[in-house]
Amino acid sequence: MTGSALLRARGVTRWYGRGSALVRAVDEVDLEVPAGQTLAIMGPSGCGKSTLLHLLGGLQRPTDGEIWLAEHRIDEMSERGLARLRRHHIGFVFQSFHLMDELTAVENVELAALLAGQSPHRARQRAMTLLDRVGLADRAKHLPSALSGGQRQRVAIARALSNEPLVVLADEPTGNLDSAATLEVLRLFEELRTAGQTLVVVTHDARIAAVADRVISMRDGSFADDSRLAGTTTGTTVGTGTVYGGWR
Ligand SMILES: Nc1ncnc2c1ncn2[C@@H]1O[C@H](COP(=O)(O)OP(=O)(O)O)[C@@H](O)[C@H]1O
Ligand SMILES: [Mg+2]
Repeated sequence: MTGSALLRARGVTRWYGRGSALVRAVDEVDLEVPAGQTLAIMGPSGCGKSTLLHLLGGLQRPTDGEIWLAEHRIDEMSERGLARLRRHHIGFVFQSFHLMDELTAVENVELAALLAGQSPHRARQRAMTLLDRVGLADRAKHLPSALSGGQRQRVAIARALSNEPLVVLADEPTGNLDSAATLEVLRLFEELRTAGQTLVVVTHDARIAAVADRVISMRDGSFADDSRLAGTTTGTTVGTGTVYGGWR
């Protein structure tokens, strides 16, 4: 597949089950996400948003179609290759945070860097920098149980950024948060967008979609509408690695 977009999908399809129970969760989706773009994917429950995000992040394999992240072809990669790709190049944020309960905030953030082979000293430094960026330096030694929902999600976002990912994939990141905490996460996403981080966020929240460069509506496994908001850049001129500013 050719094309300069950072993340590319062509004819991506994912079925579950078989026979009369067959579900076409994702049905021949084509997608190109340029570097630096903030893309929101919206749609009713069950339309295939999570499945698509998992396919894009190499957490699940497509039934058919091609998926590329930069020069990496994801759909044909070995399990080992996928694990490495996720560890080094993709940041995930989930609705239920997925933090390790017995680890402190800073330990949660540095874990990914340690697994990726960074020295403990460097990993801790980087984790502290990221916690500072998400406004939680003073909570570094707290366990997740001692943090609010919004704070937990900000820790999870710091963790997602620790490998300097090519793309951050977020699945309903504010789905478990109250209004004030949603605004905290929203502010953070705005900062990421300004910093040129490529971000794909599945959301029900119109406020999150409102700060995206582009909003795609999904229905029954396909894209029903794809709109770029007027007056915003798509980030195509943003080279990865050049505009992170304070994030690196
Ligand atoms: N592991 C699975 N096995 C069978 N069907 C599934 C599985 N995961 C999701 N589905 C079905 O695929 C469709 C899309 O699900 P999902 O991607 O979770 O949608 P969304 O995130 O938009 O709510 C739904 O009909 C759902 O029931
Ligand atoms: Mg979902």
